[in-house]
Amino acid sequence: MPTETTPDKINLAIFISGRGSNMSALIEACKDSSFPARIELVLSNRPDAKGLEAAQKAGIQTEIIDHKAYDNREHFENAVLTALKTYDIDLICLAGFMRLLSSHFITPWAGRMINIHPSLLPDYKGLNTHERALADGKTETGCTVHYVVPDMDSGEIIMQRRCPIAKDDTPDTLAGRVLEQEHIAYPDAVRMIAQKLLPPAS
Ligand code: GRF
Repeated sequence: MPTETTPDKINLAIFISGRGSNMSALIEACKDSSFPARIELVLSNRPDAKGLEAAQKAGIQTEIIDHKAYDNREHFENAVLTALKTYDIDLICLAGFMRLLSSHFITPWAGRMINIHPSLLPDYKGLNTHERALADGKTETGCTVHYVVPDMDSGEIIMQRRCPIAKDDTPDTLAGRVLEQEHIAYPDAVRMIAQKLLPPAS
């Protein structure tokens, strides 16, 4: 009988600043042995990020690089770049990472760094997306996974998922509905990218 071989996987670093529910969705996805990625590192710029606990519980290596300990963005980014050198990372997934990264950081990772955003980009770049969609009387919203470029929330779109906006939605109820879509979209997008990066199965 032919022996089953483990498919090759790409190595992920996930950057968080808070709750980390998208990170947890990726952790769940990686539990499936056929998922073509593994999480090598979870990095947070905030020592109190809730998601760190979930990552540690899952046995994932964590790094805290507190942006407040650095006197400017470039020094903070250099510390993150240096930390990354210790790992063999193929793809960075920003998952609620609340620091803007400059081209100093993004350029060496261009095409190898993605973000998830809670709107149907190019609509509602930036913060408070749900408040703005409600104020505009929209009937539909969603989430977007995209490559990271120096212009915020502007890189090439990899995947979008949509959901309806109900008449009685508040920013919180809408955020919850969009988040359900995010938790599907992010693992799907990582799978798509990994399948392109990995050599075809022989
Ligand atoms: C998500 O809505 C994500 O789209 C946005 O920040 C939020 C992070 O949530 N970038 P979580 O930390 O993944 O739970």
